[in-house]
Formats: sequence, structure tokens, C-alpha cells
Amino acid sequence: MARIPDAFIDDLLARTDIVEVIAARVPLKRQGKEFASRCPFHDERSASFTVSPTKQFYHCFGCGAHGTAISFLMNYDRLEFLDAVDELAKRVGMEIPRDTRQKNENHDTTDLFAALDAAAKFFRKHLAGSDKARAYVEKRGIAPEIAERYGIGYAPDGFNALRDALGTDQRRMQLLERGGMFSKNDKGHVYDKFRDRLMFPIADRRGRTIAFGGRVLDPEDSPKYLNSPETALFHKGRELYGLWQARQVNSKLDRLIVVEGYMDVVALAQYGVSQAVATLGTATTPDHAELLFRNAADVFFCFDGDRAGRGAAWKALESVLPRMKDGRQAFFLFLPDGEDPDTIVRKEGSDGFDARLRQAMPLSEFFYSQMSADVNLGSLDGKARLAERCKPLLAQIPDGAFGDLMKQRLTELTGVGARASGPETHVPAQRARNAPNVPAPKRSLVRSAIALLLAQPSVALALEPPYRFAALRQPGVELLSELVALVRERPDIRTGGVLEHFGEREEAAALHKLATQSLPGDEGMWQTEFLDTMAQLEKQTVQQRIDELQAKKQAGALDDQDKDELRGLLMTRA
Ligand code: UTP
Ligand code: MN
Repeated sequence: MARIPDAFIDDLLARTDIVEVIAARVPLKRQGKEFASRCPFHDERSASFTVSPTKQFYHCFGCGAHGTAISFLMNYDRLEFLDAVDELAKRVGMEIPRDTRQKNENHDTTDLFAALDAAAKFFRKHLAGSDKARAYVEKRGIAPEIAERYGIGYAPDGFNALRDALGTDQRRMQLLERGGMFSKNDKGHVYDKFRDRLMFPIADRRGRTIAFGGRVLDPEDSPKYLNSPETALFHKGRELYGLWQARQVNSKLDRLIVVEGYMDVVALAQYGVSQAVATLGTATTPDHAELLFRNAADVFFCFDGDRAGRGAAWKALESVLPRMKDGRQAFFLFLPDGEDPDTIVRKEGSDGFDARLRQAMPLSEFFYSQMSADVNLGSLDGKARLAERCKPLLAQIPDGAFGDLMKQRLTELTGVGARASGPETHVPAQRARNAPNVPAPKRSLVRSAIALLLAQPSVALALEPPYRFAALRQPGVELLSELVALVRERPDIRTGGVLEHFGEREEAAALHKLATQSLPGDEGMWQTEFLDTMAQLEKQTVQQRIDELQAKKQAGALDDQDKDELRGLLMTRA
């Protein structure tokens, strides 16, 4: 795999403001020279997560998560390295060198995306060309601009329409097959999986088609909906239909509405409710819950009011409970019998649908109504049973006000606190040993130099070769030499980049610790301090050599060259 040149990454990180990138996703508060918030990578009450604008890196004193703007996007937005770089590059108007981009992209994957994109185009073309399909779209009341926004198409009848049109050679056949577009009979004969169906392409988070859902036109056919199988690109438990479009249409998503069907998403969008997404014929998984809350703080789950709907809602609740950090809210909306969002929004318009959303049940209410449905809260037994039943679920809620309120509610209902019978009491979060404003311990010269270089890598640029200090026999000298060389080679590198360079190496942990300590003194003086420190190290190096030569002299082993050297050294020291 061809690497993106380091210089490009350094330049990119130098032009990117990590504070801006993170602040767009996590609420940051200024704290002296740095910014802080509750850590987005683990559940906590205190704000152990800090972002340093000068060092251009983030660090959590609680869970140890750390890195650059690139690693933040990889971890938070769950992007691949190249996509994270791409995203940042776009923000600052840089372009990834073309050949690197091409070499990096896995050919197979690129071709697979291209094959599915071609299939989507093929289906759209056939929708335009089929009276029958267009009549169906019209009958369902789908407006042309909405059909276009969602890329809706039509898979023609017959067994070989797609196959004949796009499977023109061995390679293309193989790609379409890997993309899940074919079925195979007992004799191994390959034919179109989707036939005579209205086609809904499913987009990934970058808008690329990764799968399809197809609805029958003929009510006699079954199944009513057919989805692509799981493929290398498509894992239905991790994708949400319509999320891409919702993100395109809304500059900021403050809510997402989870519905059951493709048609629901499309109809809601048509009536102006453009934040609806659908799970793909599956229950709401923990991955879905994560994806939902990463995109919006308020999530509404909209289900049928029947037994199956309640069951599906409870599954969703179980998936979101462990993700209910403060600031997030989940609501449950149950529709009247025989209705779905598609029919409701057509009858009541977006105002009517919004009014229903406003009356949706908060998670707490749904939770306790389900949990206490079959217990008699008038009896002691019933109260005890409810408390017992709730405990394991409540324990999954992250620390915070929401969890406290849920437990308080249980106490109100039963008189028994969720924690009352357990041994655990809340211990205030222990202050991390190396929290930002604890003064750093006294260091050796080498450690000081490394700390200064880490705080501001550019200080090393003023250092002129030859680097005599490299000969010094002291712990850390080799590392210091390597750091100096790294900065000279990559003059734009920042703290985050240096740490990333060491990746998983043994030294990484120590470097990381040093980088997170705050240095005393004025930032403007670090350069001078660094050069002073290095000058002292040079002196020690000279002394080390003098001692060596003098020991040799004692042993009577000094030759002429040594004598010259010793004389020279004694002179420089003077
Ligand atoms: P519904 O049966 O509620 O259909 O399935 P719908 O969304 O109201 O569709 P229309 O209005 O009749 O066209 C809801 C969702 O369940 C999945 C699909 O994702 C569908 O959108 N489903 C349903 C399947 O995967 N297979 C099926 O056979 C039926
Ligand atoms: Mn429907």
C-alpha cells in the first residue's frame, strides 16, 4: 500500500485546527490554554478529555485515548485512515496526491462500488422507461424529486435483465455477484436477484451505494421486500436507510426519527420531515444506536402500536440504554393500529406528524410502563420485584444525570433505590495522577529536552549539526536523537504527529506521558530553553570523552591521535 507522504500529513495537521474539528462533535469548554470536555470515548462524570491547540492533539486522562485530528475522526466518526485524511483535506482545501489516492484504494473495493453504482443507474433508467413501474410510483404518491433524491429505480422482470446489461465479462459478473445482485439455482445457474421490484438503493456514510432493498409491484409476489444479502460492503445491522440523505438535507441534525420501512422514510421526506431513517428489516442493534446518537442528540423511535411494535421498541430501548450519556434523549412513538408513518404523514401532514412526535413517550416512561406492566405496585412484593428487575438494566446507563433520574424514579415507584441494597457507593472520580495542572516532577536534562521538543517540535529546528550529544551514554539519548532527526526531516510536524510516528512502539507510552504534562515557563522561551539544555548535554558529552581519554592515558594506552583529541577537547571546555 502506497503511503501518503508524511510531509502531506504534517502540512494537513498544521493547517487543521483540531479544536474546531473536535468542537463540531463534542462540546468543548476552554480551560486555560486547553479545552476540556467529558470524554466521548468512555463514560464518565468529570471532564478528563482535553484538547490542546498548541500541541494539536487530544488526550483523555481517564481512558488514555489520544491522538491527532486524524485519529479523532477515525475513532469518533469511524472513518478509515484515508477517509479521515480526505475529510480534513477537504476542510482546508488540500488535495491528496492523486497517485497516492489511487494506489491506496483497494482496487477490488473501488470496482465493487462502481458495479453497484452502475446497477443503481440501470434501475433508475428502467424506472423512467417502464410505464408499469412509473404508475406504481405514482399510485404510492412518490413525487419525482423525492424519487430522485433517494435514487429510486426499477428492476425489470425476467431473469437476466441486469445480468445481460452489466455482466458483460467475467470480472463484471464476479463483481455483481460479490455485490449481492445475483441468485443461484441448484444447477449453479446465476440469475438476477431483484426482478420486477421497485428498488431503493442503500447508501453508506459517504453516499455510495452498498446494497438495495426491493419492493414487489405485484401484491401476489413475495416476499414483499427483498434486501441485498450481507456482503463485504453491506452489514445490515450497521446501516440505516436514509441517513445519508438526512445528512445531506440537514446542515445540522438535532433529531433522527427511526421508522420501520423504506416507504416511511421516503414519504416523510416528501412531507418535509427529512430526518427519518429506517433499520433494514432488523431490530435496532447497538451499532445502530451508536450511529444514531453520533449523528443526533435526540432520537425518536416510531413503531406500530401492536404487540410486535412494542417488542421492537423494547429491543431498541435495550440497545440505547448503555448509550444514554447526558445530553442524549430517546423517545418512543406508537402509532394507531393499521397506520404507519407513510399513511399518517399523508393524512395529517408534517404538522400532524410533528405533533405526535411532541407527545412521544420519553424513554423513562416507556421503560417503567413496560417493567411494571405485570406487577402490582400496591404490594410490597410487587415493588421488590420491580426493583429487582430494573437493577441490571439501570446499571447499564452511563454515569450522569439521566442515570440518576432513572434511579430516582425507581425509588419513587418502589421506595427502594437501585443502589440501596448493593455494596457499591459512588466514589468521586479520583484525580488522575498526571492531571494537567499538577507540576511535572524534576527531570534529567535528556527528559527536559524531550519534553520541550514534544511540546513544540519546531524547537529542534534551530539545533545545528553535528549532534555531538548523540554519543552521550545516558538513558533517553537515542530517543532524543531520533526525535531531532524526525523533526528535521518533517519540519511541520506537531506533537500529535510525533506521537503518531511512534505508534505502538515501546517508547510511545513514555512519550505520551511526557507530552501530556504541562511545561513550566513561558511558551516563547521554550526554544531558548531547549537550546540551553542541548548545550549542557553537549558539554556533558565532551566531558564524557575527556574522562574516557584520561582513563586511557592512565592506562598508558593513549596514541598520538588520542592526544590531539584530548588537547582539543580540553581547549573547547576551557
Ligand atoms: P412493512 O411490511 O411494514 O412494509 O415492512 P411498509 O414499509 O409499510 O411497506 P409498504 O408501505 O407496504 O410498501 C417494513 C419494513 O420491513 C422490512 C422492510 O425493510 C420494510 O421496509 N421487510 C418487510 C422486509 O425486509 N421483508 C418483508 O418481506 C417485509
Ligand atoms: Mn407502509
